[in-house]
Amino acid sequence: MNALVRAVEVRKSFGTFEALRGINLDIEHAEVLCIIGPSGSGKSTFLRCINQLEIIDQGALMVDGELVGFRRSGDKLHQLSEREIARQRLATGMVFQRFNLFPHLTALQNVTEGPVQVLRRGKAEATQEAMDLLARVGLADKAGNYPSQLSGGQQQRVAIARALAMKPKLMLFDEPTSALDPELVGEVLGVMRDLAASGMTMVVVTHELGFAREVAGRVVFMDRGEIVEMGDPNQVLEKPSHPRTQEFISAVLA
Ligand SMILES: Nc1ncnc2c1ncn2[C@@H]1O[C@H](COP(=O)(O)OP(=O)(O)OP(=O)(O)O)[C@@H](O)[C@H]1O
Ligand SMILES: [Mg+2]
Repeated sequence: MNALVRAVEVRKSFGTFEALRGINLDIEHAEVLCIIGPSGSGKSTFLRCINQLEIIDQGALMVDGELVGFRRSGDKLHQLSEREIARQRLATGMVFQRFNLFPHLTALQNVTEGPVQVLRRGKAEATQEAMDLLARVGLADKAGNYPSQLSGGQQQRVAIARALAMKPKLMLFDEPTSALDPELVGEVLGVMRDLAASGMTMVVVTHELGFAREVAGRVVFMDRGEIVEMGDPNQVLEKPSHPRTQEFISAVLA
């Protein structure tokens, strides 16, 4: 089968600063890929390019066989319209470090908002599915709570349910637990572990090396806009072949 995500020589600069310097990566269907690396190495930028929060400068990104953000005609590339970008973006769910829930909506309304407003689904059906999703993330009893009435871990689980409600092909997580108090990290990782087991394709930027070791099919180590090393979690995390990987892992574990 073709890769669900394919990155070929992806480059992205901000002014003269090169945040991504030629990323090559295939992500298979149902694969869980964890990305680790120091601050500023381009991890978020890479996720943001997949989700078209940034537009790549060079190379190509494909999701499910479609070129992301561009249409090819002959040997020319044309940027897609906002409308086409919005359609492509629906294939990808994204969960951020900060939960970004709508503060004026309940947990349930946060989850039904997208399906009803964007996908034009019926309210009753969307509500039923949202309740199922809230149950799946262990929050059936908090459906009526507003974000301010939820803990950080609960808010993040609502954010995951909200992303899943759009039925994405791919889920991107950008340090989903790093804003949480330590005792709340486990419940969010638990939901992500279940999601991985259900066959969702996931790209997870994380400093939780234990989670990466246990759940990831592959681990990618990025540094200075490049993939320095990738492979089996045990290999990359336990016996990294590159000194920069070694250094980073020692620093995280210290
Ligand atoms: N919109 C922007 N404008 C200018 N520079 C940017 C922008 N976004 C990112 N950068 C720069 O690109 C580099 C990569 O940033 P990115 O956020 O991808 O790093 P990261 O690996 O996610 O780091 P962290 O672990 O701190 O989240 C950084 O040096 C950052 O300052
Ligand atoms: Mg980041």
